Amino acid sequence: MSTVASPAGLDWARVRADFPLLHREVHGKPLVYFDSANTGQKPAAVIEAVDAFYRRHNANVSRAVHALGMEATEAYEGTRERLARHVNVAAEDLVLTSGTTFALNLVAYSFGLPRLKTGDVVLLTRMEHHANIVPWQLICERTGATIRVAELLPDGSLDLDALYAAMTPEVKILGVAHVSNVLGTINPVAAICREARKRGIATVIDGSQALPHMAVDVAAIGCDFYAFTGHKMCGPTGTGALWGRREHLAAMPPFLGGGEMIKEVRYEGTIFNDPPHRFEAGTPNIAGHVGLGAAVGYLDGIGMAAIAAREAALLAHLTEEMQQVDGLRILGTAADKAAVVSFLVEGAHAHDLATLLDLEGVAVRSGHHCAHPLMRFFGVPATCRASLAFYNTHEEIEAFAAALRKVRRLLG
Ligand SMILES: Cc1ncc(COP(=O)(O)O)c(C=O)c1O
Repeated sequence: MSTVASPAGLDWARVRADFPLLHREVHGKPLVYFDSANTGQKPAAVIEAVDAFYRRHNANVSRAVHALGMEATEAYEGTRERLARHVNVAAEDLVLTSGTTFALNLVAYSFGLPRLKTGDVVLLTRMEHHANIVPWQLICERTGATIRVAELLPDGSLDLDALYAAMTPEVKILGVAHVSNVLGTINPVAAICREARKRGIATVIDGSQALPHMAVDVAAIGCDFYAFTGHKMCGPTGTGALWGRREHLAAMPPFLGGGEMIKEVRYEGTIFNDPPHRFEAGTPNIAGHVGLGAAVGYLDGIGMAAIAAREAALLAHLTEEMQQVDGLRILGTAADKAAVVSFLVEGAHAHDLATLLDLEGVAVRSGHHCAHPLMRFFGVPATCRASLAFYNTHEEIEAFAAALRKVRRLLG
């Protein structure tokens, strides 16, 4: 792990040195990795934690009384504790999942399916990721409920007046991204949850893009469910969590059945385990979650406030550089933004742009970003997206801007 201890004395070059992959080249150029909203890079501390788990502690969890079984269980449950502290919730209300997609499906099937009925409405925002749309569509098909969409303002922020007006008595569940994966917009989720709560609407927050960028206090947000994914916050792929209000989790039937989620099984019937284990059927991604625990330790070692401040400075620089590129349009200019910038360049398809940037060593994502409805709002099929993390540098932003100008010249 990085030796950085206090935000005041942070040496960001040393922080960057913790990430082995960032020091490679692509196409003979130094890599500029601007695709962290897609997946984040991993510090050595995380890679080593996974390696150490397989080399020294590998065993299944919650089943064996032998030493390795105990060590593996302790490490796995240790991640639950660490994550819970990180987002200010109780560990017993935190279900470890394979990521946000699983977490949101779990809410949809175990919470939504039993309670939604014909005439009910699930309210979603225009900026949701498909992971917070499609599960609700599947549940609506089965229950007769319908989906209502809360629209955006032209700058890519939520139209809060319209959102609150859409919270009519038929609305039973509201799904909102904490931070947009396309625009970077940070939504005022605490205020939104307060309004929803007044009207008896259950709130489901997709925190996938919030956890990597800022301190998140789930208890203070006041939602009913909060989902997030580990691989965007320096952890391994296939990791994540769902926090749920205790009374909801206690009342929810399991989503998947199998080992670990039971207390007693007879052919006549099964007594389910208590939450969170009720929702963790089968052998989980143990090594991955051990790595996620190390990732949380790493992020906490730096401090989320320091990370947020660092990224705010990087975003300001990035935006300024991009605004100077002829013919470049930024989509999403809300005042409160994380370091995620979607853009288009006049006369170029997003995929061509990303391919040309790749030849300059710059990795950006192009496409619909799993947000078709949002693409439709902006009237485009795809965008390019530069998404940064605290390990990026001001020099990389300048290299990116130079690459953009070169591509612009090439395109004529
Ligand atoms: C806002 C948002 N929600 C959900 C997801 C899905 O996360 P995962 O694929 O890790 O389950 C992503 C990933 O891109 C995302 O950005």
